[in-house]
Amino acid sequence: MTRKDDFKSHLRSRFHKGVDKTVEKYVASIPFDWRLYKQDIDGSIAHAQMLAKQGLISKKDAELIVSGLVAIRDEIEKGKLEFKPELEDIHMSIESRLFEKIGDVAGKLHTARSRNDQIALDMRLFTKEAISETVSGLRDFQRALLDIAEANKAAIMPGYTHLQQAQPILFAHHLLAYFEMLQRDVVRFQDCLKRADVLPLGSGALAGVAYSVDRNFVAKKLGFSDISANSLDAVSDRDFVLEYEAAAAITMMHLSRLAEEMVLWSSAEFGFVELDEAYATSSSIMPQKKNPDVVELARGKTGRVYGNLMGLLTVMKGLPLAYNRDVQEDKEGLFDTVDTLLSTLEVFTGLIKTLKVNTARMQQAMSGSYILATDLADYLVRKGLPFRQAHDIVGKLVRYAISKNKGFQELSLDEYRGFSPLFADDVYGITVKTSVEARNAAGGTAPKQVAAALLRARKLVGKRNGKQAN
Ligand code: ARG
Repeated sequence: MTRKDDFKSHLRSRFHKGVDKTVEKYVASIPFDWRLYKQDIDGSIAHAQMLAKQGLISKKDAELIVSGLVAIRDEIEKGKLEFKPELEDIHMSIESRLFEKIGDVAGKLHTARSRNDQIALDMRLFTKEAISETVSGLRDFQRALLDIAEANKAAIMPGYTHLQQAQPILFAHHLLAYFEMLQRDVVRFQDCLKRADVLPLGSGALAGVAYSVDRNFVAKKLGFSDISANSLDAVSDRDFVLEYEAAAAITMMHLSRLAEEMVLWSSAEFGFVELDEAYATSSSIMPQKKNPDVVELARGKTGRVYGNLMGLLTVMKGLPLAYNRDVQEDKEGLFDTVDTLLSTLEVFTGLIKTLKVNTARMQQAMSGSYILATDLADYLVRKGLPFRQAHDIVGKLVRYAISKNKGFQELSLDEYRGFSPLFADDVYGITVKTSVEARNAAGGTAPKQVAAALLRARKLVGKRNGKQAN
């Protein structure tokens, strides 16, 4: 049995005929699971070596199998192996090619293994790698945020609630809020790694295998920390994919919020930031336009990342134990989520690194506004008034100032004193700067707090490719 057709028909020895052409195409996963070729070959090499070590196949056969697999990997990487839908998936494509290359010895590789534990293995290896790439993408992006936060350390901007000006904050403090979100994301991905990091191989089709395999040897070879405890669970579990997709959905939600702020801030109305030309797009009809399509797309792509999570949750919800073909549907969603997240992180890192920050516009946005109203109330509190009364007085003062079309700085002391005798000359000392300086409780926007937060953040991310940056 050295020809592909033989390999195929060999697997159907209990049937009289082959599958219908439409079925062949319908069940094939090779158009997308070819991406698992590296994982599949790594897994097969470790498996073959284990079989030889256990005396289940000869050393010579194992060597033949391994060198065949290495050659196939090379063929795939050079684009020399053509994948065919009739060979269904990556496992059969590689195994069939191995038959072509080394003949019947190839048939020994699938001893003590099923495609069910094989695909579970490939998916775990893929997810583990995706997690490490994701974490490094997140780290790069965090570093970019810290760079612009540090470069604009003293910049003060209006802080918002309900998208209404609320209180002044440091621009760096705002960026550090995203840093925190991404920090939680990193930890979430690292946590999901713990459960992905379990070897399913050796579970067979569902019941375990009837050979004296050494699963720990395979686990060690492939870099897994543990082996699965239950064969049924091992072949049917896709929690690790769901966890990656859930963590990715949350990260995309964070990026999407930042995207929304970039859209707003780069508008003529805000003008807080300007996107570098390399990260902005033009309009085909309106020559003046500099559009934030990149961040809009990130906001939009968040939808499909959510969709991939919901899709797989739905696939899994009604499945009886153990393996069911339904789970083949886990792949395109995972691949799409990984690709979307990694590319979004990459493009956001560049966009943030090249962002022009217009601190003067931020300052301007607060002039003549009543963003210091809380500070005026705090001022009265410091002079002995209960906060609720102070709030009431300043509310009336704001109403008065609006009616006179004046900012706080433009009101005379007499006008102030008309609302409370506690107002004195020092009321004019209240500025956006004193406002942020005052908020010096831990976690607040005072420059002291933000400087400490920046230091802490730098320590967390470490240098690029440095030790802490895992
Ligand atoms: N392509 C299949 C998948 O992705 C591999 C496992 C097939 N197993 C089977 N019993 N049909 O799930």
